[in-house]
This record gives sequence, C-alpha cells and structure tokens, in this order.
Amino acid sequence: MAEPGIPTGGILIEGLRKVYGQGDTAVEALKNINMQVAPGEVVGLVGPSGSGKSTLLKCLGAIIEPTAGRMTLGNEVIYDNGWRVKDLRALRRDRIGFVFQAPYLIPFLDVTDNVALLPMLAGVPNAAARARALELLTALDVQHRAKAQPNQLSGGEQQRVSIARALANKPPVILADEPTAPLDSERALGVMRLLNQMARQAQTAVIVVTHDEKIIPTFKRIYHIRDGQTVEEAGEGRALD
Ligand SMILES: Nc1ncnc2c1ncn2[C@@H]1O[C@H](COP(=O)(O)OP(=O)(O)OP(=O)(O)O)[C@@H](O)[C@H]1O
Ligand SMILES: [Mg+2]
Repeated sequence: MAEPGIPTGGILIEGLRKVYGQGDTAVEALKNINMQVAPGEVVGLVGPSGSGKSTLLKCLGAIIEPTAGRMTLGNEVIYDNGWRVKDLRALRRDRIGFVFQAPYLIPFLDVTDNVALLPMLAGVPNAAARARALELLTALDVQHRAKAQPNQLSGGEQQRVSIARALANKPPVILADEPTAPLDSERALGVMRLLNQMARQAQTAVIVVTHDEKIIPTFKRIYHIRDGQTVEEAGEGRALD
C-alpha cells in the first residue's frame, strides 16, 4: 500500500546491465536494457530461455542488485549505478507485487492468510485484509481452496494464489514471471483480465514475462530481449472483456 508522499506509478529502465559472478565465470545476463511502462499499462516481456527475463524482473523488484544503469519508479530514481532507495525491504513490501516463476507460498499459513499477510503487515486490520484476500481469490477462481494449506493445492491453484498475493497490497508496480504457464486457456485469460483491470483502476504498471501463446495476443506492447538488449514491438492488444 503506497504511503502518502511516496511517488508511485510508471517504470523507466535506462541502460540496465547485470553481470553475474566475476572473472572467467562471469555471465553478462543483461547488456543494455531500456524500457518504459506507463501507469495503467500492461506490457509483455518475451525472449528465449536464458535471455535474462527473470534477471531483469529481479533487478527491478530489488531482489538482486544490477551492475549498472538506472531504474525509476514514479518520479523517484530507485537505482542509479547503486541503490538510491536505502530501505529495499519497504520498497519490495509496499511498492512491488512480485509473481515468481515458482509460487513460494508460506507452507504453514492457509491460502487466505498467504494472501492477507502483506496487507496485515502494512497495518490493514485482519478482517479487512482477509476480506480483500477472498475477493482476489474469487476473481482468480480459487476461493473454494481458501482454507487449504498450500501443499494441498495443484500447481495452477498455487500459481493463482501467488498472483492474488502479489495484488493484495495494491502495489503501483506488478512484476509477473510466467504467471500463466501452469494454467489452462480460460484461466490464463482470466489472470490477464484481472491484471488489466487492476492496471486500469489503480494505475498500476505491469510487466508480464511470458512465452505463453494464449496470452501474447492480449498485449498492446511487447519487449523482446535479444542478446541482452530490449527491442520493442506493437502487440495485437486483443480485448479481454
Ligand atoms: N544466480 C546466477 N548466477 C549466475 N548466472 C546466472 C544466475 N541466474 C541466472 N544466471 C544466468 O543469467 C542468464 C539469464 O538468466 P535468466 O534466469 O534471467 O533467464 P530467463 O530469460 O528468465 O530464462 P527462462 O526463460 O529459462 O526462465 C542465463 O545465462 C543464466 O544462466
Ligand atoms: Mg526466467
């Protein structure tokens, strides 16, 4: 939940570079990434396996540190050849909803509390946080599993719960890494519908990494990563509702 005074909205990435390791074993995963996502926009990010898609999302999500470049959220520079934002935990908690390639749910909390946890930590009363969780679980068609433990769910159900969790705090930025890979066509499009609604209603900026042919036609704009660089192209922008 964004606090008053914290700038929100929009993503700008300029000249982003990421090298893993050093010396002979160094891997230059990102060479020169340039991207812009407006508030309220949902863009696709595609590229072959190993092209750096997850690396890019993890840099932007403040999970790993880039090697060089600049990243701006809203009108705040969060990274400029070094972190500008000092409290990276608060950045991750309050301003970024991350859907990981694997769901990583908390095994000892039920589905509802997995989704309600972050809003509760941000100070939302428990009942309101759980009500919001149930609303999201319903939108993702997994409300019938609200009281289950994560290990009792199918892979696709776990993924939908992890999407609900990323949306629960209404973050200004959502980063989703292959969110629809384990889902059937109808549910995959349901996820895209929800992300688009959220973007429209809350002016969220959304990046979706995907190779999923079911959802690629829904993007108006797509970035391809090739040789560590981004190339932008227009998508079909097929209507979802
Ligand atoms: N922690 C790490 N240490 C060293 N190299 C890494 C690390 N993580 C990723 N890499 C390398 O960086 C490159 C980009 O990896 P990344 O996971 O970002 O690719 P990706 O586009 O997400 O691939 P996929 O579609 O398979 O998920 C790959 O060559 C990968 O081997
Ligand atoms: Mg990946």
